[in-house]
Amino acid sequence: MSQTIHKPVLLGAVLTCLAPAKGNSYLDLTAGYGGHAQAVLDHTQAPSLMTLVDRDETAITALKPFESQGVTVLHAGFEEASTTLLSGGERFDMILADLGVSSLHLDTSSRGFAFRMTGPLDMRMDQRAELDAATIVNTYSQAELEGILHRYGEEPRARTIAAAIVRSRPLTTTTELAAVIAGVMPRGSKVHPATRSFQAIRIAVNDELGQLERSLPLWFQLLQPGGRLAVISFHSLEDRIVKRAFADVAGDRYDADYQLITKRPVVADDTETVFNPRARSAKLRVLQRK
Ligand SMILES: C[S@@+](CC[C@H](N)C(=O)[O-])C[C@H]1O[C@@H](n2cnc3c(N)ncnc32)[C@H](O)[C@@H]1O
Repeated sequence: MSQTIHKPVLLGAVLTCLAPAKGNSYLDLTAGYGGHAQAVLDHTQAPSLMTLVDRDETAITALKPFESQGVTVLHAGFEEASTTLLSGGERFDMILADLGVSSLHLDTSSRGFAFRMTGPLDMRMDQRAELDAATIVNTYSQAELEGILHRYGEEPRARTIAAAIVRSRPLTTTTELAAVIAGVMPRGSKVHPATRSFQAIRIAVNDELGQLERSLPLWFQLLQPGGRLAVISFHSLEDRIVKRAFADVAGDRYDADYQLITKRPVVADDTETVFNPRARSAKLRVLQRK
């Protein structure tokens, strides 16, 4: 099931670094369609020691077959889930966070993530959340919009795009928004001119960087001694946060409680990127609790 909907990224490297063994416990903070989880479960054969988290209702539905085998499935943001697990005294041998959106998000027009397909300005990973892309696009001030495009999209033309959006309000669909952005961008760039802006708005809608920053310290604490945490990021803003947080606890110090398993991020090889273009920007970092 999972293999056809969403190909798990860097699966071989994740398995090598986490080294799942029979009877190990596993926490998947972004379980999605369960691709990584299934591969880990094949090794651990311990469904009752596995917890899968996702904030997307569609993913939670897709994870039902795990639940019926005795796996715990939590419909929550990973910050909230991690807080609950920590206060319940749970600890894990392996933790995985495979950040960002899934291919299903990008391929389903009604979710509003894709600029090439007409859909509502939504972009919420958690369909229960209040803030959606339409609210940001149609009600935020020009300065706020510019800040989002600049910070979360590293968009050099943030000011021009923000002004164009404000002039064109109200906007209702993804393709309308993409056309407004394309209208003020130079022609002939390699990537679609709305790529950075859509990434920025999506990050803001889902508070992606805030959740990550606040959750990493919780994940460190959720590890058993000897346990390993693997994080896969998809853009430099995420990777920078992971790299810094890892360096803070697993620096080259005699008294550090954690150690880096990957000195440099692991990236996909050519074979993987041919079959799974999403893997192109993936970076895997792993650390271990001593
Ligand atoms: C890249 S996909 C994961 C795919 C999964 N590893 C697999 O093999 O099928 C990322 C998933 O993480 C979820 N997600 C992203 N941020 C989240 C957060 N802060 N809390 C919970 N789930 C999140 C998304 O809804 C999405 O389903």
